Amino acid sequence: MRVPMIAGNWKMNTTIREATALVSEMCPLLNQIENVDKVICPPFISLAVVKELIRGSSVKLGAQNVYFEEEGAYTGEISPLMLANLCEFVIIGHSERRQYFNETGEMVNKKILAALRAGLKPILCIGERLEENEAGRTEEIVTEQLRSSLAGVDYPRSLIIAYEPVWAIGTGKAATGQQANETIGFIRGKIAKLYSDEIAQDMRLLYGGSVTADNIAEFVQQPEIDGALVGGASLKADQFLSIVKQTSEIRSRLSEES
Ligand code: 13P
Repeated sequence: MRVPMIAGNWKMNTTIREATALVSEMCPLLNQIENVDKVICPPFISLAVVKELIRGSSVKLGAQNVYFEEEGAYTGEISPLMLANLCEFVIIGHSERRQYFNETGEMVNKKILAALRAGLKPILCIGERLEENEAGRTEEIVTEQLRSSLAGVDYPRSLIIAYEPVWAIGTGKAATGQQANETIGFIRGKIAKLYSDEIAQDMRLLYGGSVTADNIAEFVQQPEIDGALVGGASLKADQFLSIVKQTSEIRSRLSEES
Protein backbone atom coordinates (compact mmCIF):
# COMPACT_ATOMS: atom_id res chain seq x y z
CA MET A 1 0.00 0.00 0.00
CA ARG A 2 1.15 3.53 -0.81
CA VAL A 3 2.11 5.66 2.21
CA PRO A 4 -0.17 8.72 2.19
CA MET A 5 1.38 12.16 2.08
CA ILE A 6 0.19 15.51 3.38
CA ALA A 7 2.26 18.41 2.10
CA GLY A 8 1.80 22.00 3.24
CA ASN A 9 2.50 24.63 0.60
CA TRP A 10 2.98 27.82 2.55
CA LYS A 11 3.20 29.89 -0.65
CA MET A 12 4.49 33.46 -0.11
CA ASN A 13 3.63 33.54 3.57
CA THR A 14 5.66 33.78 6.79
CA THR A 15 8.80 35.69 7.67
CA ILE A 16 11.70 33.63 9.04
CA ARG A 17 10.47 34.47 12.53
CA GLU A 18 6.90 33.38 11.76
CA ALA A 19 8.10 30.19 10.07
CA THR A 20 10.18 29.39 13.15
CA ALA A 21 7.18 29.88 15.42
CA LEU A 22 4.87 27.77 13.24
CA VAL A 23 7.31 24.88 12.89
CA SER A 24 8.20 24.96 16.59
CA GLU A 25 4.52 24.66 17.41
CA MET A 26 3.68 21.93 14.90
CA CYS A 27 6.75 19.75 14.66
CA PRO A 28 6.62 17.90 18.01
CA LEU A 29 2.97 17.02 17.41
CA LEU A 30 3.40 16.09 13.74
CA ASN A 31 6.33 13.93 14.72
CA GLN A 32 4.03 11.69 16.75
CA ILE A 33 1.68 10.92 13.87
CA GLU A 34 2.65 7.75 12.02
CA ASN A 35 1.83 6.19 8.66
CA VAL A 36 1.75 9.54 6.83
CA ASP A 37 4.57 11.42 5.13
CA LYS A 38 4.39 14.94 6.52
CA VAL A 39 6.03 17.56 4.32
CA ILE A 40 6.24 21.30 4.83
CA CYS A 41 7.19 23.68 2.04
CA PRO A 42 8.08 27.11 3.46
CA PRO A 43 9.52 29.97 1.38
CA PHE A 44 13.17 29.56 0.24
CA ILE A 45 14.55 31.95 2.84
CA SER A 46 13.26 29.78 5.69
CA LEU A 47 14.41 26.39 4.38
CA ALA A 48 17.74 26.33 6.24
CA VAL A 49 16.18 27.41 9.53
CA VAL A 50 13.32 24.94 9.23
CA LYS A 51 15.73 22.15 8.31
CA GLU A 52 17.41 22.63 11.69
CA LEU A 53 14.12 22.82 13.55
CA ILE A 54 12.85 19.51 12.14
CA ARG A 55 16.15 17.67 12.47
CA GLY A 56 15.66 14.28 14.12
CA SER A 57 11.88 14.35 13.58
CA SER A 58 9.83 12.53 10.95
CA VAL A 59 8.76 15.83 9.34
CA LYS A 60 10.15 16.35 5.85
CA LEU A 61 11.02 19.47 3.92
CA GLY A 62 10.18 20.71 0.44
CA ALA A 63 10.78 23.85 -1.62
CA GLN A 64 8.08 25.59 -3.66
CA ASN A 65 9.99 26.04 -6.90
CA VAL A 66 13.38 25.53 -8.53
CA TYR A 67 15.18 26.75 -11.64
CA PHE A 68 16.46 24.27 -14.21
CA GLU A 69 20.06 25.44 -14.57
CA GLU A 70 22.70 24.27 -12.11
CA GLU A 71 24.41 27.64 -11.62
CA GLY A 72 25.22 30.88 -13.38
CA ALA A 73 23.92 34.34 -14.20
CA TYR A 74 20.24 33.87 -13.39
CA THR A 75 19.58 36.62 -10.88
CA GLY A 76 17.09 35.68 -8.22
CA GLU A 77 16.84 32.00 -9.10
CA ILE A 78 17.60 28.91 -6.98
CA SER A 79 19.16 25.82 -8.53
CA PRO A 80 18.47 22.12 -7.93
CA LEU A 81 22.02 21.72 -6.58
CA MET A 82 21.37 24.39 -3.96
CA LEU A 83 18.24 22.58 -2.83
CA ALA A 84 19.67 19.08 -2.93
CA ASN A 85 21.43 19.38 0.43
CA LEU A 86 18.61 21.28 1.99
CA CYS A 87 15.35 19.49 1.26
CA GLU A 88 13.93 16.28 -0.13
CA PHE A 89 10.95 17.53 -2.17
CA VAL A 90 10.24 20.38 -4.57
CA ILE A 91 6.90 21.60 -5.89
CA ILE A 92 7.07 22.11 -9.66
CA GLY A 93 4.53 23.58 -12.07
CA HIS A 94 2.13 25.03 -9.52
CA SER A 95 -0.72 26.77 -11.33
CA GLU A 96 0.19 30.07 -9.65
CA ARG A 97 3.60 29.88 -11.32
CA ARG A 98 2.02 29.01 -14.65
CA GLN A 99 -0.50 31.84 -14.28
CA TYR A 100 1.53 34.71 -12.74
CA PHE A 101 5.05 33.88 -13.89
CA ASN A 102 4.28 32.52 -17.33
CA GLU A 103 5.74 29.09 -16.70
CA THR A 104 5.20 26.97 -19.75
CA GLY A 105 4.95 23.21 -20.09
CA GLU A 106 8.45 23.21 -21.51
CA MET A 107 9.87 25.02 -18.48
CA VAL A 108 8.03 22.67 -16.13
CA ASN A 109 9.56 19.74 -18.02
CA LYS A 110 13.08 21.20 -17.74
CA LYS A 111 12.56 21.74 -14.02
CA ILE A 112 11.35 18.17 -13.51
CA LEU A 113 14.36 16.78 -15.37
CA ALA A 114 16.79 19.01 -13.47
CA ALA A 115 15.22 18.20 -10.08
CA LEU A 116 15.36 14.44 -10.74
CA ARG A 117 18.99 14.75 -11.86
CA ALA A 118 19.82 16.44 -8.56
CA GLY A 119 18.08 13.70 -6.57
CA LEU A 120 15.14 15.86 -5.53
CA LYS A 121 11.63 14.40 -5.42
CA PRO A 122 9.35 16.60 -7.52
CA ILE A 123 5.73 17.23 -6.59
CA LEU A 124 4.36 17.99 -10.05
CA CYS A 125 1.17 20.06 -10.04
CA ILE A 126 -1.37 19.72 -12.82
CA GLY A 127 -5.01 20.74 -13.13
CA GLU A 128 -7.55 22.42 -15.33
CA ARG A 129 -8.94 25.95 -15.18
CA LEU A 130 -12.61 26.70 -14.54
CA GLU A 131 -13.53 27.29 -18.19
CA GLU A 132 -11.76 24.09 -19.19
CA ASN A 133 -13.63 22.20 -16.49
CA GLU A 134 -16.94 23.67 -17.62
CA ALA A 135 -16.19 22.74 -21.22
CA GLY A 136 -15.62 19.12 -20.16
CA ARG A 137 -11.92 19.31 -21.06
CA THR A 138 -10.41 18.16 -17.75
CA GLU A 139 -9.04 14.85 -19.04
CA GLU A 140 -7.65 16.46 -22.19
CA ILE A 141 -5.88 19.17 -20.17
CA VAL A 142 -4.31 16.86 -17.58
CA THR A 143 -3.24 14.47 -20.33
CA GLU A 144 -1.46 17.28 -22.16
CA GLN A 145 0.13 18.57 -18.94
CA LEU A 146 1.41 15.08 -18.11
CA ARG A 147 2.74 14.57 -21.60
CA SER A 148 4.62 17.86 -21.70
CA SER A 149 5.87 17.76 -18.08
CA LEU A 150 7.22 14.23 -18.34
CA ALA A 151 8.84 14.38 -21.79
CA GLY A 152 12.21 12.63 -21.57
CA VAL A 153 11.60 11.33 -18.05
CA ASP A 154 12.26 7.61 -18.40
CA TYR A 155 11.67 6.45 -14.91
CA PRO A 156 9.64 8.70 -12.61
CA ARG A 157 10.17 6.60 -9.46
CA SER A 158 10.37 9.43 -6.96
CA LEU A 159 7.78 11.65 -8.63
CA ILE A 160 4.61 12.69 -6.85
CA ILE A 161 1.73 14.27 -8.74
CA ALA A 162 -0.72 16.73 -7.21
CA TYR A 163 -3.98 17.18 -9.08
CA GLU A 164 -4.98 20.75 -8.30
CA PRO A 165 -7.97 22.04 -10.27
CA VAL A 166 -7.29 25.76 -10.60
CA TRP A 167 -10.91 26.65 -9.77
CA ALA A 168 -10.53 24.96 -6.37
CA ILE A 169 -7.33 26.71 -5.28
CA GLY A 170 -7.85 29.34 -2.61
CA THR A 171 -11.54 29.63 -3.46
CA GLY A 172 -13.05 27.57 -0.64
CA LYS A 173 -14.72 25.56 -3.42
CA ALA A 174 -13.02 22.18 -3.23
CA ALA A 175 -13.75 19.42 -5.72
CA THR A 176 -15.86 16.61 -4.29
CA GLY A 177 -14.05 13.47 -3.19
CA GLN A 178 -15.68 11.61 -6.03
CA GLN A 179 -14.69 14.17 -8.70
CA ALA A 180 -11.10 14.23 -7.47
CA ASN A 181 -10.97 10.43 -7.27
CA GLU A 182 -12.18 10.11 -10.85
CA THR A 183 -9.62 12.50 -12.29
CA ILE A 184 -6.81 11.09 -10.16
CA GLY A 185 -7.78 7.57 -11.27
CA PHE A 186 -7.64 8.84 -14.85
CA ILE A 187 -4.16 10.29 -14.21
CA ARG A 188 -3.01 6.97 -12.77
CA GLY A 189 -4.27 5.23 -15.90
CA LYS A 190 -2.25 7.65 -18.04
CA ILE A 191 0.88 6.98 -15.98
CA ALA A 192 0.33 3.27 -16.51
CA LYS A 193 0.15 3.85 -20.28
CA LEU A 194 3.18 6.16 -20.34
CA TYR A 195 5.27 3.89 -18.08
CA SER A 196 3.94 0.69 -16.52
CA ASP A 197 1.25 -0.58 -14.20
CA GLU A 198 3.82 -1.09 -11.50
CA ILE A 199 5.01 2.53 -11.64
CA ALA A 200 1.41 3.78 -11.72
CA GLN A 201 0.46 1.66 -8.71
CA ASP A 202 3.50 2.86 -6.73
CA MET A 203 3.11 6.53 -7.52
CA ARG A 204 1.49 8.83 -4.99
CA LEU A 205 -1.18 11.08 -6.42
CA LEU A 206 -2.45 13.91 -4.23
CA TYR A 207 -5.43 16.22 -4.39
CA GLY A 208 -5.02 19.97 -3.80
CA GLY A 209 -7.50 22.86 -3.69
CA SER A 210 -9.28 24.22 -0.61
CA VAL A 211 -8.45 21.21 1.55
CA THR A 212 -9.30 21.81 5.21
CA ALA A 213 -9.71 19.81 8.40
CA ASP A 214 -13.44 19.71 7.57
CA ASN A 215 -13.14 18.06 4.16
CA ILE A 216 -9.88 16.04 4.22
CA ALA A 217 -11.74 12.84 5.20
CA GLU A 218 -13.75 12.98 1.98
CA PHE A 219 -10.54 12.84 -0.07
CA VAL A 220 -8.39 10.35 1.79
CA GLN A 221 -11.22 7.82 1.93
CA GLN A 222 -11.02 7.55 -1.84
CA PRO A 223 -9.00 4.64 -3.23
CA GLU A 224 -7.03 6.68 -5.78
CA ILE A 225 -6.17 9.67 -3.57
CA ASP A 226 -2.96 9.30 -1.58
CA GLY A 227 -3.13 12.53 0.39
CA ALA A 228 -3.23 16.26 -0.18
CA LEU A 229 -1.26 19.34 -1.07
CA VAL A 230 -2.64 21.91 1.35
CA GLY A 231 -2.33 25.69 0.95
CA GLY A 232 -4.12 28.05 3.35
CA ALA A 233 -4.91 25.42 5.98
CA SER A 234 -1.23 24.44 6.27
CA LEU A 235 -0.49 27.83 7.85
CA LYS A 236 -2.68 27.08 10.84
CA ALA A 237 -1.07 24.56 13.19
CA ASP A 238 -4.33 23.11 14.51
CA GLN A 239 -5.82 22.70 11.01
CA PHE A 240 -2.72 21.10 9.53
CA LEU A 241 -2.34 18.74 12.50
CA SER A 242 -5.94 17.71 12.23
CA ILE A 243 -5.57 17.06 8.48
CA VAL A 244 -2.52 14.87 9.06
CA LYS A 245 -4.12 13.06 11.99
CA GLN A 246 -7.34 12.28 10.15
CA THR A 247 -5.34 11.02 7.18
CA SER A 248 -3.35 8.68 9.40
CA GLU A 249 -6.47 7.34 11.14
CA ILE A 250 -8.52 6.85 8.00
CA ARG A 251 -5.73 5.21 6.00
CA SER A 252 -4.78 2.90 8.89
CA ARG A 253 -8.40 1.83 9.21
CA LEU A 254 -8.74 1.24 5.45
CA SER A 255 -5.55 -0.81 5.30
CA GLU A 256 -6.75 -2.97 8.23
CA GLU A 257 -10.05 -3.55 6.43
CA SER A 258 -8.43 -4.58 3.16
P1 13P B 1 -5.49 26.16 -0.95
O1 13P B 1 -5.45 24.93 -0.05
O2 13P B 1 -5.24 27.43 -0.19
O3 13P B 1 -6.71 26.17 -1.79
O4 13P B 1 -4.24 26.02 -1.95
C1 13P B 1 -4.05 24.82 -2.59
C2 13P B 1 -2.73 24.86 -3.26
O5 13P B 1 -2.53 25.59 -4.20
C3 13P B 1 -1.68 23.98 -2.74
O6 13P B 1 -0.58 23.96 -3.58
